[in-house]
Amino acid sequence: MEEPEEFWAEQARQLDWFKTWDSVLQWESPFARWFPGGQLNASYLCVDRHVKTWRRSKVAIYWEGEPGDTRVLSYATLYREVNRFADILKKIGIGKGDRVALYLPMIPELPIFMLACARIGAVHTVIFSGFSAQALADRVNDTQAKLLITADAGFRRGKPLPLKEICDQAVGLTPSVDKVIVVKRAGIPVTMKEGKDLWLHDLLDTAASSVKPEPMESCEPLYILYTSGTTGKPKGIVHGTGGYLVFNYSAYKWVFDIREESVYWCTADVGWVTGHSSIVYAPLAHGAAIVLYEGAPDYPTLDRWWDIIEKYGVTIFYTSPTAIRMFMRYGEEGPERHDLSSLELLGSVGEPINPEAWLWYYQNIGGERCPIVDTWWQTETGGIMISPAPGIECVPLKPGSATFPLPGVDAAVVDEQGKPVADEQRGHLVIRKPWPGMLLGIHGDPHRYERSYWSKFRGMFYTGDYAIRDKDGYYWILGRADEVLKVAGHRMGPAELEDAAISHPALAEAAVVGKADPIKGDNIVVFAILKQGFTPSPELRMELAEHMRRVVGPIATPDEVYFVASLPKTRSGKIMRRVLKAVASDEDIGDLTTLEDEASVEEVRKSYEELKRQL
Ligand code: WTA
Repeated sequence: MEEPEEFWAEQARQLDWFKTWDSVLQWESPFARWFPGGQLNASYLCVDRHVKTWRRSKVAIYWEGEPGDTRVLSYATLYREVNRFADILKKIGIGKGDRVALYLPMIPELPIFMLACARIGAVHTVIFSGFSAQALADRVNDTQAKLLITADAGFRRGKPLPLKEICDQAVGLTPSVDKVIVVKRAGIPVTMKEGKDLWLHDLLDTAASSVKPEPMESCEPLYILYTSGTTGKPKGIVHGTGGYLVFNYSAYKWVFDIREESVYWCTADVGWVTGHSSIVYAPLAHGAAIVLYEGAPDYPTLDRWWDIIEKYGVTIFYTSPTAIRMFMRYGEEGPERHDLSSLELLGSVGEPINPEAWLWYYQNIGGERCPIVDTWWQTETGGIMISPAPGIECVPLKPGSATFPLPGVDAAVVDEQGKPVADEQRGHLVIRKPWPGMLLGIHGDPHRYERSYWSKFRGMFYTGDYAIRDKDGYYWILGRADEVLKVAGHRMGPAELEDAAISHPALAEAAVVGKADPIKGDNIVVFAILKQGFTPSPELRMELAEHMRRVVGPIATPDEVYFVASLPKTRSGKIMRRVLKAVASDEDIGDLTTLEDEASVEEVRKSYEELKRQL
């Protein structure tokens, strides 16, 4: 912490650079440039450097399809495929700096295409395959991607999810997309548009097996990944190359204590940041053997995951609290039926893990033998920030605490004025120094970057989370301080959900809040005002839920819909979400003095009563 630049330079030297950096950090607050002048390539780091060693014949990816089909890729195979895919991209006319949108199921082609983009300097933007056509189109349009890559379908709970069909709807709304590459995964019939849609297998027929990795300046972008904030459309978080890879390489080693013989499985979808950093870039940069699973956790039987752990001898298992709580409900028989003795280390990410779930995980999955690394981080932080780090030092764990910031991470808990709060007091979690994994910015919007992260507290990165530091210095993350929802670990912004709701012809206005759910973290609750001529009915409620599902995707299906005559608002027209949340959760409005709205205590109280009366 005292000599961060020297420290990060030492970490950076563990990577292969084509050219050494001119300086470690250029900090023009709030814009950081890590290792400027340095040149490297992410795909070189993740594949080329391994095939020069004995790891050539080491397993890179154990892939398990939901129907039970499998593929095993060695590093040599991965190298070959990445090169061939890169050649295809080049032949289509994709070059350095071009954006490529990936809308794929959890099949090996997804990480291969990511690495192929990285190889030629193209910027990938992976869009979670659970999003629907409109959500896909919005993200593609923001990046202005020329190329969209998809599959005919992916399997989810035994059914093919028709991704190509969804793309067909989306490309009507995305003028920038010139070509669509389609991976044949499920073998379902699809419509291929002459001159626009191309089968991957046809392109592979003539692909060259070697493409030179493009030297990328450290601060050139590696990818764009969309995530939600409190307001507005999803933000395109841009990550760079050098800083991002250095940070992830180090954090991964510290947190997961990765070793050659490890078999590592992170259950996240590659469509989220956990998949980018903790399935693709960090593990492969280490030459680790990873497991990639296509489908649902409980399909065709409730013990599918435990079966996979046993089958591949997984040693490190990394998942979300929502999944653990779901399995808790299913009971212990599933894990008991399987030999999970290969496991050495467990991880948790995405939401606060409650002590009860932590203990269940520890006892029933880890056999009271495996430490749990509760890892706190965000799309914006690029990699893990606060977590136990058994790769460096073992500390006593406390169920529900992410323990301590990683080396070089200057976290703090502050009050509304930005002053550190006393131990055991709740405050805002902030980061006080730049770190190499931090986002470069928001795609196309430097002002929004500054406004979203650096304006609430001067000179400090605002995370949007509440936290407590206890008297022993342990961090406890309490969840979002802003209005962002965490639905089964998926980050959703109220604005995107509200826009989706309002696009229904019967709705005049809508507000969306999260309501605590014992398994999913947050439930989606919609408060809606109907246009004149429409009357509330159970059918309309169902229709609205179906509509939101169609517009955003299945993860956006609301759990509760209330039709109301008015929404509680401040004088300036800002919706008082705290009031909505309290009403939805049947809670008291609580400590009104901490309300961030500009409304008076009386007004808030009145609108709270008014809304309760309406329901
Ligand atoms: C939450 C996921 C408590 C937090 C990597 C954060 C957590 C948001 C934890 C980022 C954890 C993530 N304990 N809360 N271990 N990890 N979060 O961008 O609210 O999808 O701000 O990144 O997830 O979500 P994102």
